[in-house]
Amino acid sequence: MRKVFIALALIALCSALNLHETLSKQGYEEKPHYFGFKQLTKEYSDFVDTVLIDGFKTVLEDPSLYATFLKTITSFTEEDKNSAFINCSKGTKPNFFKFIGDQDGVVGPNGSETITLTPTEGDCFESVTVQYTKISDKSVELIFTPGNRRNGTADNCKDSYTVGSTTNYHALALGQPNKPHKWTLKHLKPQNMQAIESFGLRIFKTCDKFANILPDLVITVGLFAGGFGLNPDVPIFGSKPTWWMEVLNPLFIQQGTGYLWIKREDKFVDLDQTEVHPGDFLIITRMDGLDQIIQWGTGSRSGHSVTLLDIDGEMYAVESQDAWYWPKKKIQRNTWKDWKQYAQNAGFNVALLPLREEIRQKFNNTAALEWFETVEGVPYGYHNFLFGWIDTENKNLPAVLDINFVYSVLTLIEKFIPAVPKSLVGEAMNKRLGTENLNLVQLYEVMFQRNLTVAEVFAIPEQDSWIYSDGPSMVCSSFVAAIWKAGGLFDGLEINATEFTPRDVYQTNFFDKKYKKPEKCLKDGLPYCQIMGKFVMDVATDGYSSINPYSNMFEHCPSQPPLFLRTKGC
Ligand SMILES: *[C@@H]1O[C@H](CO)[C@@H](O)[C@H](O)[C@H]1NC(C)=O
Ligand SMILES: *[C@@H]1O[C@H](CO)[C@@H](O)[C@H](O)[C@H]1NC(C)=O
Ligand SMILES: *[C@@H]1O[C@H](CO)[C@@H](O)[C@H](O)[C@H]1NC(C)=O
Ligand SMILES: *[C@@H]1O[C@H](CO)[C@@H](O)[C@H](O)[C@H]1NC(C)=O
Ligand SMILES: *[C@@H]1O[C@H](CO)[C@@H](O)[C@H](O)[C@H]1NC(C)=O
Ligand SMILES: *[C@@H]1O[C@H](CO)[C@@H](O)[C@H](O)[C@H]1NC(C)=O
Repeated sequence: MRKVFIALALIALCSALNLHETLSKQGYEEKPHYFGFKQLTKEYSDFVDTVLIDGFKTVLEDPSLYATFLKTITSFTEEDKNSAFINCSKGTKPNFFKFIGDQDGVVGPNGSETITLTPTEGDCFESVTVQYTKISDKSVELIFTPGNRRNGTADNCKDSYTVGSTTNYHALALGQPNKPHKWTLKHLKPQNMQAIESFGLRIFKTCDKFANILPDLVITVGLFAGGFGLNPDVPIFGSKPTWWMEVLNPLFIQQGTGYLWIKREDKFVDLDQTEVHPGDFLIITRMDGLDQIIQWGTGSRSGHSVTLLDIDGEMYAVESQDAWYWPKKKIQRNTWKDWKQYAQNAGFNVALLPLREEIRQKFNNTAALEWFETVEGVPYGYHNFLFGWIDTENKNLPAVLDINFVYSVLTLIEKFIPAVPKSLVGEAMNKRLGTENLNLVQLYEVMFQRNLTVAEVFAIPEQDSWIYSDGPSMVCSSFVAAIWKAGGLFDGLEINATEFTPRDVYQTNFFDKKYKKPEKCLKDGLPYCQIMGKFVMDVATDGYSSINPYSNMFEHCPSQPPLFLRTKGC
């Protein structure tokens, strides 16, 4: 997941050439375009002409991008926090993730051609045709021609499209019916031209209106940007989330799910190793965008999961972990003392959920440790990250995210960093289809031949017995469920630990709801002890310890905002 976002965040650049001056003199007006092009537009009586001039500069070379970013995030008001859940409607204000869209067509690989895009709910025009022409080795042209306005749409209704090649993205708006919008890409570098001719320009209908696309992207990048380092004392590039991440992420969650993250006194409660026990569960959230994606997708108020084992008389935290801010990678152990220090450095919010006495008695630390030793050092579970979450054909993704869109973005990424989509979905899709080593495009062909949709294949449950190219694959929460399974807590049941999200783990009925907290814990009303963090880790109001274990649990559970209702026995 992380790698995908880094890849997406790298797409953001800007510059100009001489042509710029010439066009300016001819009355072309400069419009903002932040994806590596200069954009100039002039409206003629019978068509609108937009010229895009290629030329890359990095964000670091253009500090004005940083100013735009700060301006956008600080212009978010209290009132915006009350706006509706994120959906694909055209908003008055910018919002998270709304720069995304649905793929409507592809032009380019077949040479000059014309395609017609069909409208969907909320679109302004009855039809839109797109005519593609290659003009020279450095230039291509697209002419978008909208038809009549659809009945019931406002006179100023505009549709926006994102045109993506494997090397760049461009956004454009269509406002006037029956008026062609000519859109020319000039000074294309050879690799950009080649990408267009091999893979085409993909045309996505964008969720939000044109003017919001950049702000949408900027605030979304703000969810993730910062805290990339290892040093807790360095601001922005250190190991803690930045101030804006701690503002934007709760805002994103409030808008996306309705849940309100409450601030708390940031008190560190140092539970020592006699106050914690093997099999106890640590719920953890870091305001870094990733834990919030998990919350948006699964409803989990905890993003990371850790459990404890007694190893030779000393308490260890054990976990599946791969973060840049964490000193160790992969499935690992750290002494409880070291772990607490690393967790503080990382800016974690952490609470300890204690097992009930009878469950604690049942937990076989020796058996769990024997199993742990067989998987220690195995990489983090990228392969099934998405699959433990997606259990159903259409009831797991927030409405704004279309699985086909996700798949096509990954197909796009596959063209230039194949390892990422292979790791994130490719290997797991191959397991599901019984194929080997097919890439996403080839997998698509197999699904097509077998009359399966992407959604149907995603919904096939993940099996604990599947071994990937780099070993068994476990995300943090499946690792904890697997330790419990090895320690005998699910004896007599058929359990695929890989199907457990962090929410599934804290909802399993194993915890001590009548726990007597040590005196030093905050008197915050929680039935367990929060040991660090600026935000309250409240799972007590989210089905904490409420689901009795049963065979094949959590293999077919829907999870959609705002309520994330699960169906009985899913
Ligand atoms: C999106 O949310 C707005 C505001 O609540 C609502 O008016 C609109 O109908 C929603 N659109 C869709 C497509 O659900
Ligand atoms: C190219 O044209 C062929 C034949 O008309 C068609 O099957 C194929 O889908 C087209 N490719 C793209 C990427 O549009
Ligand atoms: C659009 O509205 C006009 C007049 O209000 C009506 O005559 C026409 O049939 C409508 N078209 C559609 C496709 O509904
Ligand atoms: C715990 O597991 C170990 C190793 O699998 C086994 O030898 C031992 O009998 C188990 N203890 C109990 C109480 O079941
Ligand atoms: C493909 O699947 C759909 C829906 O599951 C079904 O309606 C259709 O008949 C199937 N087509 C073939 C060729 O099997
Ligand atoms: C995993 O899930 C599959 C499909 O539901 C089921 O057949 C299998 O028994 C499960 N595996 C285990 C170890 O429970």
